[in-house]
Amino acid sequence: MKRLRLLCALIGFTSLPAAADMASLSKEAFVSNLISQMTLEEKIGQLRLITIDEKMTPEKIREEIAAGRIGGTYGSVSRFVNRPMQDASQQSRLKIPMFFGWDVIHGHRTIFPIGLALASSWDIGAIELSGRIAAKEASADGIDLTFAPMIDIARDPRWGRTSEGFGEDTYLVSRIAKAMVQAYQGTSPNAPDSIMASAKHFALYGAVEGGRDYNSVDMGLARMHQDYLPPYRSAIEGGAGAMMVALNSINGVPATSNAWLMQDLLRKAWGFKGLVISDHNGINDLVQHGVAKNHREAARLAIKAGVDMSMNDFSYGPELQGLLESGAISQSNIDNAVREVLGAKYDMGLFEDPYRRIGIASEDPADNNAEHRLHRAQAREVARKTLVLLKNENGLLPLKKEGVIALIGPLAKSTVDIMGSWSASGVAEQSVTIYDGLKNAMTQGSLIYARGANLEEDQEVVKYLEYQGVSKIENDPRSAAEMIDEAVKAAQQADVVIAVVGEPRSMSHEAASRTSLDLPGRQSELITALKATGKPLVLVLMNGRPLSIGKEHKQADAILETWYSGSEGGNAVADVLFGDYNPSGKLPITFPRSVGQIPNYYSHLNTGRPYIAGALRNYTSQYFDQSHGPLYPFGYGLSYTNFSLTDMALSSTTLSKTDNLVASVLVKNTGQRDGETVVQLYIRDVVGSVSRPVKELKNFQKIMLKAGEEKAVHFSINENDLKFFNTQLEYAAEPGEFRVQIGLDSQDVKEQSFELLSEQGSG
Ligand code: BGC
Repeated sequence: MKRLRLLCALIGFTSLPAAADMASLSKEAFVSNLISQMTLEEKIGQLRLITIDEKMTPEKIREEIAAGRIGGTYGSVSRFVNRPMQDASQQSRLKIPMFFGWDVIHGHRTIFPIGLALASSWDIGAIELSGRIAAKEASADGIDLTFAPMIDIARDPRWGRTSEGFGEDTYLVSRIAKAMVQAYQGTSPNAPDSIMASAKHFALYGAVEGGRDYNSVDMGLARMHQDYLPPYRSAIEGGAGAMMVALNSINGVPATSNAWLMQDLLRKAWGFKGLVISDHNGINDLVQHGVAKNHREAARLAIKAGVDMSMNDFSYGPELQGLLESGAISQSNIDNAVREVLGAKYDMGLFEDPYRRIGIASEDPADNNAEHRLHRAQAREVARKTLVLLKNENGLLPLKKEGVIALIGPLAKSTVDIMGSWSASGVAEQSVTIYDGLKNAMTQGSLIYARGANLEEDQEVVKYLEYQGVSKIENDPRSAAEMIDEAVKAAQQADVVIAVVGEPRSMSHEAASRTSLDLPGRQSELITALKATGKPLVLVLMNGRPLSIGKEHKQADAILETWYSGSEGGNAVADVLFGDYNPSGKLPITFPRSVGQIPNYYSHLNTGRPYIAGALRNYTSQYFDQSHGPLYPFGYGLSYTNFSLTDMALSSTTLSKTDNLVASVLVKNTGQRDGETVVQLYIRDVVGSVSRPVKELKNFQKIMLKAGEEKAVHFSINENDLKFFNTQLEYAAEPGEFRVQIGLDSQDVKEQSFELLSEQGSG
C-alpha cells in the first residue's frame, strides 16, 4: 500500500486513496492516468518481455529496468533473483513494477504428470489440484504469470507437442482449459498464491500440417470454430488474463501478424480484455514466414495486428519508436498495447505491492528445491489417476508383492524422462523412478534389473535431440545383442517381467516431430526377445504421444500407459501395478495402428461410403492393407474390476428448443474390487445442413462404484448440446434426429434416438 501511495503521488493523484477507495479507483482510470505520465521510451519498455539468459548480465538487466526499458521477464524463477530486478523497477521514474513469467505447465518444483496424462484422468478435480499446487509453488518463488495452459487440440501424434496438451477432443480440452486457468488464478490473479494464466498457443497450433512443428495450418472457418477454437474461448470464459500467440500461420497469415485472429475474433467477437503476448521470438519469425522484409516490418505487423508484448524482444525495443516517427504505426497502437500490459500488472496485484510474490529476503527459502517445499502426496494421488490400463490378459495385473520381478528397459531408472517435457523447475534427482517405486512397494521378493536396450542409437538423431538441451540420451556402450542377452537372462530368473519402454522426453517436446510412431531404438526387438522367454510380460509405456504398438500389443500380457508421470511417477506406477490403486484413466487421444492411419480421431465424418465391418471391403473408406479403426479408441481404458451398462433410457423421444431431456444408464461394478470409471456421453446429429461427426463427446462423469454396486448415471441434454457452426458460421441446432450414445469408451456404446423439434413443435 505504501508503494501504491507513492506511485499515486508520482503519477498525479494528488491525494492518496484511502484503503476503502482503492477498490473504487477503477483499473481503467488508474491505467489511463499512468499512461498519460509515460514517455514513449517507457511505454515501449513495458512492451518488452526479456529472456533471462547469458545475453545480458544481471547488472545490465537491472540498469535497463531502472531506465524503464523492460516490462517483464521470462526465465527467472526464484525470489532472490527476482527481487533485485523488482528493486530496480522501483528505482525507475514511475516505479512501474515488473512481472515475472515462466512455463509452469504441469507443476513447478513438484512435477505433476504431463498435460496428456492429466487429461487421461478425466478427473477435473485432480487436474485442478495439480494446477493449484503449481500456482502455489510458483508464486512462492516470485512468479506472477505462467505461459499455460497449453490447450491446442492435437490430432496428429507425430507432433511432439501433443504431450503438452490435453488431447484430441474439443469438449474435453475445453473443460480442462477452463479448469486449469481457474486453478492457476485461484480466487483472483491478484492473490499472493495465484499466477496469471497465459493460455496458448492462439491459435490452431496443434493442427500444423503433417505434425511438423511450426508448420502451416490451412483450415476452413467452420472447422476452426467447431473443433479447434473452443478451448481458447473456454480459457477466456475461465478468466485467463493473457494469451500467447501461436507460431504457425493460419491460411497463409502467421498468427503473430494476424489482425483477424487477434482483433476481429479475440477482442471483438469474444470480448477478450487481457494481455496478448507473442511466443518466444515469434515477431522476428515473421521475416522467415515471408510476410515482413525485416525486423522493423515484423514489429509493425505484430503491433498493428494486436500483439501487446514481445517475448524475447528484439523487435519492439529497437523498432517501435522509428515506426511511430515514420507514421507506420500510430500512438494508439502503442498505447493500446501498454494499456494491456499495465492492466495485467494491475490484475496481478503488482501496483498494490510489487513484492506480492517475492516477499521479504529474510523469508527466502534456504534451498528452493528443499524436500519440504514439494507436494509429493498430491503428486502421487494425481499421477495414479492418469495411468491407463490398455490390456490385462487373464488378470495378470495387479501383481503380488512377492517372488522375483525382472524390471527391464531403458526408462525404468530414468529420473529425467519421467518428468516429461517442460518440467519447469523440477529437479530430476527428486523424481521417483519406476525402479524406486517398485522397490519402495515390495515388502517381499526381489527385483532384478537390466537395461535391455538403448532409447535411440542413430547418432544423428541423438545429436539432434541433445541439441534441444531437453535431456541427454545416456547410451549404454554395449552392443544391442549384449544388452538384450542380459535382459533375457534376467527374465529367465523371474516370475514376471516388467518392461519399461517408450520415448525419451526429448522426443515428445517442442521441435520433436517424428515420422514414425514405433518404439524407438531396439526396444521392439527387446520385447520380442522377452516374449520368447515365455514369462508373463507387462509393458509399462512412458511416452508423450500415442505410439503404434500393434505388435507389442499382441506380445504383452498387460500394458499400462504411464505417459510421463512426474516427481512421484514411480510410486504411482507401483500403486497400480501392485493393485494399491485400481486404474481409472481413459485415453484422451486415439491410438492408431500405424502412422499411416493419421489422422484418425474418433469424431470424424461418416463419408459417403463408410467402412462396414464384415462386409465385402470394396469401395468403402478404409486402408486396404491394415485392419480398420484404431488400436485403442478415444476414451478407452480398463480397470481391475468390470463394469456393465444397462440399455439407456431417454426421458422423452422428443426435445423442444426450450426444454431438456435426460439420458440415463445403470452402471454396475460386476467385479470383485471397488473401482472408478468414466461414463461418456456422445451425440450424433444424423442429418444436418452439413455432414456432422459420427459422434462428439458432450459430457462425462467419473464415478466410483464399490464391488457389486450399481448406480444410475443421468445426463441432461438441451439444445445447446446440439449446436454447431453451419456454413454461414451461425451456431445453431437444426431440428431432426439425434443419436445419443453412452459408453465407457467412444466405441462400445449404448444408443438411443430422439428428435429435436422445430419452433412449431414438429420435426
Ligand atoms: C514455446 C512456448 C513457450 C516459450 C517459452 C516457445 O518456444 O513455443 O510454448 O512458452 O517458448 O519457453
